[in-house]
Amino acid sequence: MDTAQNPGSDHKKADPPKSVSAYLDPNYWNQRFSNEEHYEWLKDYSHFRHLIQAQIKPNSSVLELGCGNSQLSEELYKDGITEITCIDLSSVAVEKMKERLLSKGYEGVFPGCLLKFLLLFPSFCVFVLLEFDTRFNNR
Ligand SMILES: C[S@@+](CC[C@H](N)C(=O)[O-])C[C@H]1O[C@@H](n2cnc3c(N)ncnc32)[C@H](O)[C@@H]1O
Repeated sequence: MDTAQNPGSDHKKADPPKSVSAYLDPNYWNQRFSNEEHYEWLKDYSHFRHLIQAQIKPNSSVLELGCGNSQLSEELYKDGITEITCIDLSSVAVEKMKERLLSKGYEGVFPGCLLKFLLLFPSFCVFVLLEFDTRFNNR
């Protein structure tokens, strides 16, 4: 998706990987997120808002899987959905997301790595799971 389709994103476009399998490599994502502040892989929140609003209530606990550097969590927060956990396999994405959310004062939004997430939350926690184009690493 180029920036013309993705006007909210950085103008500096990341180089595409040499092969599709690079999407399975955490190093690809760490390197990419080191050089990129914001990119929406799908359309921005305004295109999904009506679907999300119909399904997710303000008191829901939301787990965003593969958050990258998307602004989805911020948009949800602005819409009153404030209990959000964003996780990503890229430690760079997680650290940058933490910094960004903290600097904006979004309390209640928790970025974390997948492993930490599994350790932190007991099995009785109920989440609405949001997955936007994660491209799972299922090795
Ligand atoms: C195509 S990007 C989508 C990012 C964001 N959801 C968006 O829509 O802009 C895929 C993201 O999923 C993450 N990812 C891939 N496999 C993952 C896994 N097994 N667990 C958590 N995150 C994963 C990548 O690091 C990357 O941030």
